[in-house]
Amino acid sequence: MSARLGRWATAAASVATICVMLGVVSYSVTLYRLFCEVTGAGGTTQRVAANTAQTTDRFVTVLFDTNVAPNLPWRFRPLQRSVRVRLGEETPAFFEAENLSDEAIVGRATFNVTPEKAGLDFKKIECFCFSEERLAPHAVVQMPLQFYVDPELASRPGTRDVREITLSYTFFRAANAGEGMDLARFEGKPTPAAGAALFAENCAACHQVDAAKVGPALGGVLGRPAGAMANYPYTKALAASGLVWTAGTLDRWLAGPAALVPGTAMPMVVADAGARAAIIAYLEQIPPPAQQAAAGSGQGGS
Ligand code: HEC
Repeated sequence: MSARLGRWATAAASVATICVMLGVVSYSVTLYRLFCEVTGAGGTTQRVAANTAQTTDRFVTVLFDTNVAPNLPWRFRPLQRSVRVRLGEETPAFFEAENLSDEAIVGRATFNVTPEKAGLDFKKIECFCFSEERLAPHAVVQMPLQFYVDPELASRPGTRDVREITLSYTFFRAANAGEGMDLARFEGKPTPAAGAALFAENCAACHQVDAAKVGPALGGVLGRPAGAMANYPYTKALAASGLVWTAGTLDRWLAGPAALVPGTAMPMVVADAGARAAIIAYLEQIPPPAQQAAAGSGQGGS
């Protein structure tokens, strides 16, 4: 019995070694993933069809990191640097890719998790990393990732102490250009969805769309003069700014509120232009609080 266990351990150890070696020596993706996806070794994450886990009250912070192989003329970055998630909670994250060249190119994303021991618990439901992906010349897409961290993380002795997980992606140029799924399926589409996720992460601590909180309600903000919500105590600076919220003014506001309106009380800066665009696209879809209330009571009454 123990001899068997020993052999198992040896086998597992050598598989892990092979994963590390293959990862270091070459980008021999297929073999590497085959081994590692089965074993979770080398910080490889797990692919699942659906979230079957229960949400718990334990939080972990997931940090995102992106890289591009030198021979791939793409730009590739996360739209959020990190998210704080409950174990078991299905969470979206978004990544932007841009083809800087004049030709369509097929890329393949490999991924890895540190600490490696958390790889087994990192479950992906939807990911652009499941297949080879084709990006048209100069196209820009925002690609969704849907994941959760398995609550098992908190109960396994080896991973119990993990509070932070880094998910790293590297896009490589695929050998057989012309094949692959078309990333055009994401073009334009997920922007409001990305914005909703970014809003939850960056704005929701102070803002709601339907009522004032620390900041004013933001439903219907596009087209509205700045400082116009009657039930909210704005700073004089913002109330007297004479601004009207459009995609353009909102973009400048989110890039640096104090630069646009010196003396404002809004402290949040969104440095990433893609993230600002996504948040604005999300806000564009939300009606003013009065209309939200009317729609709500209408539903309730019928
Ligand atoms: C730490 C709290 C805080 C966070 C986080 C925050 N805001 Fe604000 N926001 C405020 C406050 C306070 C005001 C009112 C500013 C004033 O009166 O000068 C404000 C005002 C605004 C306004 C002007 C609304 C109006 O009626 O004129 C917009 C638009 C806005 N915030 C958008 C956002 C977005 C989008 C995010 C997320 C990216 C965000 N804010 C994050 C506190 C916050």
